[in-house]
Amino acid sequence: DGQVQDRILPSEIMIKIFSYLSPIDLCRCAQVSKRWSELVMDPVLWPAIYPVHWASGDWSFKPLEKEDDEEALASQYEEYYCGDDEDADVDESTDANFNPDDEVQAEHKQAIREVQILSGLVKYVLPKVGTGVETCNLSHSCGVSSSHVHKVLKLCPNLLHLDLSHTKVMDTAFKEYGYKRGTGKLRHLDLTGCENITDLTLHSLAGIGIPPSDELSPAPAPNNRVAWRAAGLCSRNCCMGAVKMGISDVDKIVMKPSSLHDGKIIVQKDPSLTDLAFLCDLECWQTFGQQCGNEGKGKKILISQECGTKKDTSSCCSTIWRKKDKGQTAKQGTVCCESSCVQNSSGSCDVNETCNPAEGNSITHALHNLTFLSLNSCFKITDEGLRALSKRGGLPYLQHLDLSGCLNISGLGVAALADTCHALDHAHLYYCDNMYPDPFPTSASGCRNLQCRFRTCCRSGE
Ligand code: FES
Repeated sequence: DGQVQDRILPSEIMIKIFSYLSPIDLCRCAQVSKRWSELVMDPVLWPAIYPVHWASGDWSFKPLEKEDDEEALASQYEEYYCGDDEDADVDESTDANFNPDDEVQAEHKQAIREVQILSGLVKYVLPKVGTGVETCNLSHSCGVSSSHVHKVLKLCPNLLHLDLSHTKVMDTAFKEYGYKRGTGKLRHLDLTGCENITDLTLHSLAGIGIPPSDELSPAPAPNNRVAWRAAGLCSRNCCMGAVKMGISDVDKIVMKPSSLHDGKIIVQKDPSLTDLAFLCDLECWQTFGQQCGNEGKGKKILISQECGTKKDTSSCCSTIWRKKDKGQTAKQGTVCCESSCVQNSSGSCDVNETCNPAEGNSITHALHNLTFLSLNSCFKITDEGLRALSKRGGLPYLQHLDLSGCLNISGLGVAALADTCHALDHAHLYYCDNMYPDPFPTSASGCRNLQCRFRTCCRSGE
């Protein structure tokens, strides 16, 4: 009797007893009394969520056995996305009891059930227990939406393991993720077969894309260095801020320097503008031409004379000088007209060097602690996305990287990312066998999708 136990058992004992129950039993217990409702919503009771398994009736906090899991779900995926198997040994039409409509209906019901469970979770359960959730497995879900994933990421700040493989999630699932959470706790991210994922997701995860619209205005105060750093500006005296905010191919972000002196710097997205302006070291501003490399090295960098900077046009790099007291000048830093340029710690311009946290830049992105990343069959991603992941210190703890079936990346992008993965044994690095140039021809493993019927591969017809 709930009311009797309410009076005689302390909360710790009750929670221990509840820890042996399944999620559906916990939800039933929540309806017994107000106290039980509070106790079963203790975050320690919800370490993992498996909405797909729960929708199929397997109410457990433990994953299916790996083999069964992969086999069962892969066959479910093939049926759902690829239709009937033409090579099947059994002629299903001869089975008198077989009705294809039943199968479609069953899949439809499963999808509806998943949507119901996910909607209930994000609306009623995760707001209370989200901090305890470390694992979320949505693999092969046909009911999950980008909105569900976005809410799960928002409500579960301590998530370590996220499996979205073979789902139809899109870039919007990860919007804001890299901007608001700083260094994330995520260790395992599986996006295998997420064919709608593009570079935008990788920019979001790295926190260097376009900030969400609600963060565009107002910008931090000019002297609020911490806030500027949180917005993606490099803490060192270089102009990585613009690079880190993704100025190369995406919509432009403009920080209007004209209002610098009255303390109202506005950050806004203005696609109509061709020039980019951004704050450098909070004390001077510069303007980049959109195609600065095309008009002669060094010529398109305009540096404000108002704040005591001048330009050295003798090379592609411009030295920035800052006025000190009593009319003296001091060397402030160096900037290059190439947007891919990153200034190194010695102050010289070093193209393609990544910003290293150990050298003074404390900014790391949301995937910094990742050990497993699969982008298998995310064929829309390009080198631009991989380069985004390689910035802000890259992925130093990554041990497994699967880029098989990513048909729009080249060896340059793979090398840029792999170079930041100091813990990566190339035996666990997978990419297309026909990659050109091949960055690790002898050490990396090949494509994992050869002869796979339901994952993308450039050699699938062979
Ligand atoms: Fe090229 Fe598989 S993607 S070999």
